[in-house]
Amino acid sequence: MSNTENLIKELVEKHGKCRNSLMAVLQGVVAKEKYLSEDAMKKVAEHMDVSAADVYGTASFYTFLDTVPRGRNVIRVCQTISCDMAGKDEIIEALEATLKIKVGETTHDGNFSLLVANCMGWCHMGPVMLINDDVYTELTPQKAMEALEKYVVSTNN
Ligand code: FES
Repeated sequence: MSNTENLIKELVEKHGKCRNSLMAVLQGVVAKEKYLSEDAMKKVAEHMDVSAADVYGTASFYTFLDTVPRGRNVIRVCQTISCDMAGKDEIIEALEATLKIKVGETTHDGNFSLLVANCMGWCHMGPVMLINDDVYTELTPQKAMEALEKYVVSTNN
């Protein structure tokens, strides 16, 4: 059995073989291997008894397969319907204005990349964004700015 497969087995044992654990297992693979290979996704599907399409679907919001270099901190704003209705545009506009970049771009200092993503499962608490693995819910433009500040400070330390 490959290292990847062993890792997946361990993660499935740890998080449980249910659909709700899929994200945690995928994150575990990425934490260890830095990206999610097609092979790993197939193995996750096998070990969790879910369809490969399900795994790809879950992984896609996270742009795991991105080959474009990203900033040290990656912001992902949920663009799916609940977050859209809760005001994600306002959040994106505030982030774009503050960071002086558009969605899909990285700041000149390489500190932040701004991306959109699909539903992350916190729909009742939108608008939602991730900064790296940290989740920020019920955002207002002000709350989003406050969240950003932590990453500016932490990378300057
Ligand atoms: S719609 Fe944004 S988290 Fe589900």
